[in-house]
Amino acid sequence: MDKKRVAIIGVTGAVGQEFVISLENHPWFEVTQIAASERSAGKNYLDAIKDASGIIAWDVGGDIPEYIKSMTVKKIDDLDVSQLDLVFSAVESVAARDIETKMAADLPVISTSSAYRYEDDVPILIPGVNDEHSELLETQKKNRNWKGWVAPLPNCTTTGLAITLKPLQDKYGVKKVMMTSMQAISGGGKSGVSAMGITDNIIPYIPKEEEKVKIETKKILGKLKDGKIEDADIKISCTCTRVPVIDGHTESVFVETSEYVDSAKAKELYNSYNQNSSVEGLPSAPKKYYAFHDDPTRPQPRMERSVGGGMTTTIGRVEKEELFDNGLKYMLFSHNKKMGSAKGAILLAEMLYKKGKI
Ligand SMILES: NC(=O)c1ccc[n+]([C@@H]2O[C@H](COP(=O)([O-])OP(=O)(O)OC[C@H]3O[C@@H](n4cnc5c(N)ncnc54)[C@H](OP(=O)(O)O)[C@@H]3O)[C@@H](O)[C@H]2O)c1
Repeated sequence: MDKKRVAIIGVTGAVGQEFVISLENHPWFEVTQIAASERSAGKNYLDAIKDASGIIAWDVGGDIPEYIKSMTVKKIDDLDVSQLDLVFSAVESVAARDIETKMAADLPVISTSSAYRYEDDVPILIPGVNDEHSELLETQKKNRNWKGWVAPLPNCTTTGLAITLKPLQDKYGVKKVMMTSMQAISGGGKSGVSAMGITDNIIPYIPKEEEKVKIETKKILGKLKDGKIEDADIKISCTCTRVPVIDGHTESVFVETSEYVDSAKAKELYNSYNQNSSVEGLPSAPKKYYAFHDDPTRPQPRMERSVGGGMTTTIGRVEKEELFDNGLKYMLFSHNKKMGSAKGAILLAEMLYKKGKI
């Protein structure tokens, strides 16, 4: 099989580095071009990821893949789109708007940025949760007269929440959600929070994060009807915090459902979704989409972040919540740079490729 030729844009950043490692020896996709800002353009990859003191800042652990070391980082304008089949965009959101618009005129773009998430003809996709929303990409293409489209993933804090609410929404109906996040340092990107700011500390505010979680969760769990997504009718409140954890977001969730669901029923439900996952068989899919723990000491970031190669969402502490009618509470863990961004974007590309959209 000829592999699809892909470019990674924003290849020097936190998510860009995850793309580099997750696309190494990928059976369907081959990285043939890479790009970042003017600051990095023209440098080989190793030079481009050096920090201000000249130290190679490779933040994803393990060895830097050989294939990328001597590749030259291009300026966006120097990418040869005629030699590409797909673009993975991991660019900071303000810059992403113009870049993704330009790329989508010619090519499919899978994005981790928020630049296009809130447009009516743009689905926010999580493979295994709302695959059917991908039909909206055809409308988008027509509306904008593009040869390609932009398919964004959600914000990495939305990902775990939407994934864990999906089975509850399908089977029991979700009415209200209250969530407090404990988000990893790497979620802020390579220049997100300083070591002095986060060590021995918790930061109780992440700009724009809470609004994103509320809007995105309702859109993802909504229904695609007559070429439009009708948001799910769920009331959501959340507080997003940054904690001294390197990778992986933990969230404490309280849910009101239409029908009472206890811990045993929830366990059965998540296990049944594991057996019927639409992502089963895709190269980046985990063996288990959900890991459910009865052990009240789980989930813990250090124990969960490598489960399923960072693609499994972990649920624990599932208990009745007396404050709500039909209340349930739980803790979840989701890896922000794996399922929540780069590897999730690759899983999305695999799902769309299988559907014939790439
Ligand atoms: N970190 C996460 O866990 C996470 C999770 C989900 C989604 N996201 C989203 O993913 C995107 C990337 O996040 P990140 O954490 O990887 O950020 P980051 O570490 O700050 O990296 C940003 C990347 O964008 C490039 N860039 C910035 N301005 C550019 C421009 N004008 N033209 C071309 N490239 C430009 C940078 O290149 P230089 O190195 O050359 O400056 C760098 O490669 C963001 O939109 C973020 O919101 C992040």
